[in-house]
Amino acid sequence: MRPKRLLATATFRLTLAYLGVFALSALALLAFVYEASVTFMEQQTRETIAAEARGLEEQYRQRGIVGLRTAITRRARANPDRASLYLLVDADGRWLAGNLDRWPEVEDNGDGTVRFTFTRPGPDGRGERRIATGRVFLVDDRYRLLVGRDVQERADVQHMLINAIVLGGGLVVVIGVLAGFARSRWTLGRLEGINRATRLIMAGDLSRRIQLVGDGDEFDELARNLNLMLDRIEELVRAMREVTDNIAHDLRTPLNRMVSRIELALMGGLDGARARGVLEETLRDAEGLIRTFDALLAITRAESGALEGEHECVELAALARDVAELYEPLAEEKRQRLRVEAEEGVCVEGHPQLLAQALANLVDNAVKYTPEGGEVAVRVRGGPRPVLEVADNGPGIPEADRERARQRFVRLDPGRSTPGNGLGLSLVDAVARLHGAALELDDNRPGLLARLVFPAPSPRRPPARAEAAAG
Ligand SMILES: Nc1ncnc2c1ncn2[C@@H]1O[C@H](COP(=O)(O)OP(=O)(O)OP(=O)(O)O)[C@@H](O)[C@H]1O
Ligand SMILES: [Mg+2]
Repeated sequence: MRPKRLLATATFRLTLAYLGVFALSALALLAFVYEASVTFMEQQTRETIAAEARGLEEQYRQRGIVGLRTAITRRARANPDRASLYLLVDADGRWLAGNLDRWPEVEDNGDGTVRFTFTRPGPDGRGERRIATGRVFLVDDRYRLLVGRDVQERADVQHMLINAIVLGGGLVVVIGVLAGFARSRWTLGRLEGINRATRLIMAGDLSRRIQLVGDGDEFDELARNLNLMLDRIEELVRAMREVTDNIAHDLRTPLNRMVSRIELALMGGLDGARARGVLEETLRDAEGLIRTFDALLAITRAESGALEGEHECVELAALARDVAELYEPLAEEKRQRLRVEAEEGVCVEGHPQLLAQALANLVDNAVKYTPEGGEVAVRVRGGPRPVLEVADNGPGIPEADRERARQRFVRLDPGRSTPGNGLGLSLVDAVARLHGAALELDDNRPGLLARLVFPAPSPRRPPARAEAAAG
């Protein structure tokens, strides 16, 4: 991966932003700690000097210059390491007492104190220059007194603190940038895997899937969801291809027939009656094509759920009687007995025309596939889940074929001795799903038992009954 691309990643920029905020707050904290400790140490030094000066002033007031010199000498002796510094000189600058041998060059600190350096014997015996802070007092305009404290150690600590802040800050930045690089590389690596798979899929390889790393992180979660989506898309594309193939196949046959008939008619030599026959057959084929398209459109509309919202309460017993009445002549023609055994007052929320079409498709199959003299029953049952079923005593559908039979354009009869497109059960299935119902195909021993099981009615009881139940 090129570093330039790495720098442009959102992760890297985010890391830098966090780093910036972190470094600034750390710096602010350290600066505060530094400032507070330096101020505290300076304050201590000033107070010590002030206390020393007060003591010496007391000596001078009580015992004059002699007392002051003695006190200074005593204190100087008590301070062999010269943590406290004293120097008393007369008006001409001559040494009178103290542990400094001459008046140093002082620099004003601006707050009443002065800064100066002095030399004291170091551990190796040679002179060691040290920094001190002090105050200058005029004693009766005749003497000058310098009282100070060695602040070399304090300066060393300050120096060390600044070094630590600069070094530590630098280290934080370096580690942060490196971590940002590493994290961005990792993120880019994971995303690159997803991108690579996506590019291959876009190039047409729908079977390609994104590899999971297996640590269950959010990238794995994303990859898993994308893979599930791809499975679904692949399945849809496959089904679509199959449907298109089937449509092409099923429409070609009648169209071919129509074309050859028309060609034959155009070649001439057909008398009026035969020409009429050709036209009638062609009309039948054309009507068949329209029916196929209508069925396909109905399935698509039911599947897309476009009819939702038009739902009303459909009385299943009335629906069963209406559909049975419609198929009565056909059943009679085949000397079949078509019975309706319906429980009254069973309602389902739904679309009346679609439900009627679904039931008609089931009855149509039962009448069509059951041999002459057979029996067909349409039943309605209430209970927790309303049921609408059509039973016949025909050949039935072998268990292994029951799933396949609901697919579009699937006809189980290889000889195709009966008319049909294989769309009837697909529409029933789509209508069932639209209503939240399930289409179950069962063995009627013998025959087929096709059953629509609707969901339990929503608990919207009329208020009067609810009150009665409560009372
Ligand atoms: N009651 C039944 N008894 C036996 N086989 C059936 C029955 N119902 C359906 N089938 C089988 O299932 C297949 C699919 O039925 P479906 O209703 O989807 O299509 P079709 O009846 O062939 O054509 P269409 O309904 O489009 O006119 C049928 O071809 C038939 O083989
Ligand atoms: Mg059918």
